[in-house]
Amino acid sequence: MSDQSPKKVVVLGTGGTIAGTAASASDNLGYTAAQVGVAELLAQVPGMDRALGGCTLVSEQVAQIDSKDMSFAVWQALAQRVQHHLAQPEVKAVVITHGTDTLEETAYFLHAVLPLQWVSRKPVVLTCAMRPATSLSPDGPQNLLDAIAVALCPQACGVMVVAAGSVHGALDVQKTHTYRPDAFSSGDAGALGYVEEGQLRLLRNWPLDQSNKALIAIEKIANLSCWPRVEIVMNYAGGSAYMVDAMLQPLPGVPALQGLVVAATGNGTLHHALEAALRRASQAGVRVVRASRCANGRVLATEHAEFAHSEGLSPVKARVALMLALMSGG
Ligand code: SIN
Repeated sequence: MSDQSPKKVVVLGTGGTIAGTAASASDNLGYTAAQVGVAELLAQVPGMDRALGGCTLVSEQVAQIDSKDMSFAVWQALAQRVQHHLAQPEVKAVVITHGTDTLEETAYFLHAVLPLQWVSRKPVVLTCAMRPATSLSPDGPQNLLDAIAVALCPQACGVMVVAAGSVHGALDVQKTHTYRPDAFSSGDAGALGYVEEGQLRLLRNWPLDQSNKALIAIEKIANLSCWPRVEIVMNYAGGSAYMVDAMLQPLPGVPALQGLVVAATGNGTLHHALEAALRRASQAGVRVVRASRCANGRVLATEHAEFAHSEGLSPVKARVALMLALMSGG
């Protein structure tokens, strides 16, 4: 009997420090991100053939950017390419190389839009690096090997991030350090598992969305030229209404504000001036969502809370969720 199991891993390149180069191997700061093509990056990883265990590796350059410049157009292209590859019977998994700076937003976006039909059976693993490819000690090659190890685990599914030997679910992962290679955390939830010498030690269930459906169909966002404008404001000592009131003013050529996520203090608390401005925004038809600027914990619903809370999402992920909700009319 022939083995019908999928035999291909697809690696989609989007840029980032993992593909970055500097003039000197000792320079881990003054590099330029997104310089080396994904095929070349993969070819440079020692031990890749062994990690693949007989699977074919296919790569595709979807974008080549520093992820601080991540755009909706790249997200649209990426979601379409991931969906396309997951739908191929011979494809076992999709790995994505990405910059660390907006990695958690892309991971959450994919988690929200990829059809469960595919991600419940095949994993999507994002990986990255904090040191450029030219570094004396680059972390990209090991991260790529670890991402492949997770991608090839027999039961693997859902959208994950693999970095510095840890595996994180898209919902919980956050970049929490500016410099160290171990820059990601899943906060209270903890890592899903660890990759040790090519073996995954799984501590929690694979990260599947319990809602059983994507927030919006990829086809619906594929040709969207203008995404709903959703901004983030923060509460802080001496907070004011100025930012919110300014954003409510119409400006030529600027799409009208449709949503605001507030990175509130503590358990969703707001300076009274900012709260009053958010109330005005809400009365003007802007959807307001309250997240917390705290790195851990979530805004717990209180009986008289005026604005919806972010259901545990960080401000940047709550913004993605609100844009998708506005797109789907939710
Ligand atoms: C980026 O996010 O593209 C640059 C920074 C990094 O990857 O660490």
